Amino acid sequence: MVKTDALLCPRTLQTARLRLEPLGVRHLEHVMQTLEHQEFMRLTGTHVRYTRFEVQRLLSSLPRRGDRADWAILDREDGQYLGEVVLNDLDGYNQSMNFRILLAHPELVGQGYGTEATNAVVEYGFHLVGLHRISLSVYAFNPRARRVYEKCGFSFEGTQRDALCWEGQWVDQFLMSILKTDPRPDVKLEFGPGGSVAAQVTSPQAR
Ligand SMILES: CC(C)(COP(=O)(O)OP(=O)(O)OC[C@H]1O[C@@H](n2cnc3c(N)ncnc32)[C@H](O)[C@@H]1OP(=O)(O)O)[C@@H](O)C(=O)NCCC(=O)NCCS
Repeated sequence: MVKTDALLCPRTLQTARLRLEPLGVRHLEHVMQTLEHQEFMRLTGTHVRYTRFEVQRLLSSLPRRGDRADWAILDREDGQYLGEVVLNDLDGYNQSMNFRILLAHPELVGQGYGTEATNAVVEYGFHLVGLHRISLSVYAFNPRARRVYEKCGFSFEGTQRDALCWEGQWVDQFLMSILKTDPRPDVKLEFGPGGSVAAQVTSPQAR
């Protein structure tokens, strides 16, 4: 049974270095700046150029959405905006959602933030939302992202050939998923004041 309350009001998640707080209109400037990084738009296959109005409208709708949960990834020490991470496309009948993640700036990649945020949100999806399956897609030209997903316990499921046309080049898309019963890093959840949840990785290796 999916607990849509955990999507309507996502808890704030604390990891070793990060604070994942519900994404909202207060993060608008940061989200707009993220969308300016062309390399990230390529890696996510984003052809559409969203206007400020469209982004603001999406962000302001999030507190009423029972079919997705969006978090801003912040530095736990100084509050710097580091990116966003999302569970979306709820299929309640089959206890399944989609996952996606986007850091805010190319200088932030390769420091373990993506892995840390993904582990926490996967655990949230299984234990607080009540999911059975979390799926995602990643383009063939993004081995870094694929590596992160594998480290967090996602399995390769197959290839959608020529799923993206980017600047005249066809690119394959890999499908990946993780089931609640799959081996994954051990993450201990502890419930703190104000409904926050501490997500501590106790073993980084898949069980
Ligand atoms: C994808 C993303 C979330 C990953 O987060 P990150 O913080 O950069 O990744 P991490 O530092 O946690 O881990 C990167 C891993 O990939 C590995 N890696 C880096 N480049 C690689 C490459 N070319 N081939 C294979 N592995 C690679 C690193 O060695 C590391 O693995 P390790 O810990 O085993 O050494 C982040 O880079 C990002 O937001 N990228 C732009 C948007 C994007 O691609 N989103 C995902 C769309 S599917």
